[in-house]
Amino acid sequence: MSDMEINEGETWTLPLREDLAGLEPYGAPQMEVAARLNVNENPYAPAPEVIADIATSVARAAASLNRYPDRDFWELRAALANYLAAESGVCRAPELIWAGNGSNEVMLHLFQAFGGPGRSAISFAPTYSMYHEYARDTHTSWVQGARLDDFRLDLDVVEETLRRKRPSLLVLASPNNPTGTALPLHEVQRICAIAAHTGPLVGGQDSSTIVIVDEAYAEFRREGTPSALELLENTPHLVVSRTMSKAFAMAGLRLGYMTAAKEIIDAVMLVRLPYHLSAVTQAAALAALRHADTLRAQVASLREERDQLVLRLRAMGLHAVDSDANFILFGPFKDRHAVFRALLDRGILIRVVGPEGWLRVTIGTPEETAAFVTALEEIHS
Ligand SMILES: Cc1ncc(COP(=O)(O)O)c(C=O)c1O
Repeated sequence: MSDMEINEGETWTLPLREDLAGLEPYGAPQMEVAARLNVNENPYAPAPEVIADIATSVARAAASLNRYPDRDFWELRAALANYLAAESGVCRAPELIWAGNGSNEVMLHLFQAFGGPGRSAISFAPTYSMYHEYARDTHTSWVQGARLDDFRLDLDVVEETLRRKRPSLLVLASPNNPTGTALPLHEVQRICAIAAHTGPLVGGQDSSTIVIVDEAYAEFRREGTPSALELLENTPHLVVSRTMSKAFAMAGLRLGYMTAAKEIIDAVMLVRLPYHLSAVTQAAALAALRHADTLRAQVASLREERDQLVLRLRAMGLHAVDSDANFILFGPFKDRHAVFRALLDRGILIRVVGPEGWLRVTIGTPEETAAFVTALEEIHS
């Protein structure tokens, strides 16, 4: 930690937590380039009628901004439940829905409620790197196992790790970031059956490990890939997390949500800050949800483009991982940083992430994807 001079001869030292000293804040580069294909956003801006509806709703909310918002955001919970029913056919009562400023906040709430000193959380790499930060920020000890070479989970390793570590939380992204790999339902089922009794001892009794299936990219899953939502009814320790940031094309809104048993929702309410979802966020999210069909209209074409791009990358002699998300992990390259820089020189921003040698590209508009392919062909030839 650095000492700062305040008066001559006097120094001032910040009491920063020792485990945070020297760390860099998480965040991918935000740059004005021709093709931003690095953070798995939906490349399509909202349609004029969606913008107009959001503007009207926010203006209406502005008239009572002297008041705190609905702390329990009931209207939004009901709208999210309706959206999930339409998207996946699974009906959830509004009281079984919880939301936050991005699914990042929702998952942090879970770590705040169920993690903490003396508790542990696990996941299997390569996966979304923020999970580790939720653990760090809540003083939850972090256990990271490995995935198989093809990025699927090794269920025996999952079982062994659960039994040995007795974590209070297991986080599994499906589709996984950065690999795009979705979990088959029977695997989630088997993991949940094991996790029912692998949590820490609570009052001398076995507890359950909370299994979070992070479905941030679920709407991009291929035909026939089910959602873990289908398992919720009979699995009280399962949480399914979703977001409006990806397929829903509302990353700027910051609205993520989860659905789980009432006991889990009650627990996260203990740790949330009061009025964490602003009246402006609630109004904008409700307006956006009224246009769910329009906002998700491009999902089918993004999926199609993704599958074509996988083939294109393979035709270049590269490995491209089958993806159920809106991005593709591809490689391996001897010097992935050089490839990243060469693409950036051509106005294309992708992400250096995943195992050594691999890169991740988000599916953009057809024009952006074409520019990416042309540039990569030049670099890779
Ligand atoms: C797997 C996964 N989960 C969650 C998130 C967080 O999304 P948000 O906080 O925008 O809902 C991301 C963002 O990239 C992600 O890749």
